[in-house]
Amino acid sequence: MAPNAPRTAFDHNKVTVVYVLGGPGAGKGTQCTKLSEDFDFCHLSAGDLLRAEQNRDGSQYGELIRTCIREGSIVPKEVTSKLLENAMAAEIQSRSGHRWPDGQGRFLIDGFPRKMDQALLFDEVVCPASLVIHFTTTEDVMLERLLERGKTSGREDDNIDSIRKRFRTYYEQTMPVIEHYSSLGKLEEIDSSKSIDTVYQETSVIIRKLLS
Ligand code: C5P
Ligand code: MG
Repeated sequence: MAPNAPRTAFDHNKVTVVYVLGGPGAGKGTQCTKLSEDFDFCHLSAGDLLRAEQNRDGSQYGELIRTCIREGSIVPKEVTSKLLENAMAAEIQSRSGHRWPDGQGRFLIDGFPRKMDQALLFDEVVCPASLVIHFTTTEDVMLERLLERGKTSGREDDNIDSIRKRFRTYYEQTMPVIEHYSSLGKLEEIDSSKSIDTVYQETSVIIRKLLS
């Protein structure tokens, strides 16, 4: 191996990773969708990848994922990290030669890492994050949004019992992740109680700064 070759699956000099965190219902997915349209990011939602794996015929993790999602607990780090790594590799492959030359890429990783062990594993093995965005709002706002979404989402965890458990997991497991990246100087916090457009304006200022 060359002396300065990265030890991670992707070279962080070519691949920009932004982790997007916040409690359930904070607006992560909504903002990531808009950002990926305007800034040529690929938006990968850890939760969506887990739900797809849960439903994939022949997956050995289907039952495990289903139980974790219903209980609002965190799926073992290797499973989620590998799903993200595979999705990143596929996207770099499919965009190479036109939008992302020379192995480059830009990823918004939505809802990950939710626990310290995921953060350490992904940063060490897959690609260290350049920036972490944390959308903050009150529990009341999140609860109202999730119950509204639950009317049509078909998600097994948009019900009051699962939501309470997800809040608890967020405080106990995800807040230490936020503190970790804050101490590394990589954290940007945005109040996502405001309208989608106002939150988007604030977020795009931060993303523009990162990419400049
Ligand atoms: O992000 P989302 O709300 O879609 O995640 C749904 C569920 O997927 C979480 O409550 C958790 O059970 C699981 N998950 C996980 N690790 C992540 C992201 C999601 O275990 N990094
Ligand atoms: Mg989401």
